[in-house]
Formats: sequence, structure tokens, C-alpha cells
Amino acid sequence: MSRILRVAVLISGAGSNLQALLDARSREGYAIVGVISNRPEAAGLARATAAGIPAVAVDHAAFPDRPAFEAALDTALSQFAPDLIALAGFMRVLTADFVARYEGRLLNVHPSLLPAYRGLRTHARALAAGERWHGASIHYVTAELDGGPVVLQGRLAVCPEENEETLRARVQALEHRIYPQALGWIAQGRLRWQDHGPWFDGAPLREPLLIEETETCPS
Ligand code: GRF
Repeated sequence: MSRILRVAVLISGAGSNLQALLDARSREGYAIVGVISNRPEAAGLARATAAGIPAVAVDHAAFPDRPAFEAALDTALSQFAPDLIALAGFMRVLTADFVARYEGRLLNVHPSLLPAYRGLRTHARALAAGERWHGASIHYVTAELDGGPVVLQGRLAVCPEENEETLRARVQALEHRIYPQALGWIAQGRLRWQDHGPWFDGAPLREPLLIEETETCPS
């Protein structure tokens, strides 16, 4: 019998994506075995505790450099023996060494339709550019920031009266749908990492899978 996928979640803040992953775990068939925040004050830690899941802070500010922080992160992670590490609003750049140690086992959610708008302030930049489409991406993490293979995207049409806040809220609602979906596919063995890349249903995944938002703009 195959055992359940063990997921550790790394956060830095509110943890709404963590909550979505928690809420969907029995439906999608994975377990969240631990939550780690690099910020001790992150509100998301309480969400884990409320769900009865071990939550620990590894405060990056307490370490002299990135490798020292990551060594402590490694130690904290190893207690949870995760199969997969889900970055959910985790706001630290990971070194190439760390990423290489966890190749194919690190996923991230990013608030844009990658490869467009890597980095920060994605909603403001998409609006300023007059984009018609925007959304969120789930991707495997590589040493290139926000540059790893994208496996699933949630896409929406930008509305005429949109501002940064409305767009952020709509994109976050999509994040909360697509992240549990991607983990569910991994738990079911449909999505996997093989030969240094993602595979879906037994074939290399050449283009991200797509979920469209169905709601229409307010008239
Ligand atoms: C999300 O919008 C994510 O895409 C971005 O940071 C935000 C984290 O939100 N990288 P939360 O902590 O999951 O509520």
C-alpha cells in the first residue's frame, strides 16, 4: 500500500495559502506534517497550531548568513521527514545549494502568469502594463528566482474597474484553488518529477495546466 504524501509548508506571513492547503488535505489526499516560518510573528503559525500541526519559527534574522539560516531550516525540516516542501508566501530567497538538495520536492505559488512578472508587486505591474490576463502559477523551485517549471496556472480576465487590491483578492482566490489541486495531483501520482522535469499522466509536461476563473466582471 502506498503511504500518504507528507508535505511541509514554509510561510512568512498571513498563511491564507497554508489555510487553503489545510482545508483541502483530506479531499486531495496529502498530509501536512509541519509548518515553518522564517518570521516568528507570522499569523500563519497559529493556523497550523489550530489544526493540531507542529509549527516552528526559524528566524532568519538570528543567523549571520543564508547558509547558516538554511542549515537550521534543514534541521527543522528533517524532523518532519517531508516528501514535499510547499512554499506558501515564503519570502526568503533560497540558495542554489538548498534548492539542489531538494530537487523536485520544492513547490511555490507565485502571483502572476509566469514567466510574466517574476519578483514582487506583480499586480501593480500587470495593471500598469494594461494586461488583459493575469493570475497565479504553481511551479517547481529551481535556483533561478521564480524561474522553475510551471505546472499549473489559474487565469482570470482583468476587469475594467480593477485596482491592485481587487486584483490581489481575485488572484489569491485562484491561488487557494490551484495550490491544493497541484498537491492533490502529486499525492495521486499524476504529477511527478522525473529526469529533472515535471511529468503529468505519464508524459513530460511541456506547458502548464490551466484553470480559468469562471466569474465575470461586475457590470
Ligand atoms: C500570496 O499571494 C503569494 O502568492 C505571495 O505571497 C502571498 C502570501 O499570502 N507570494 P498568504 O501568506 O498565503 O496569505
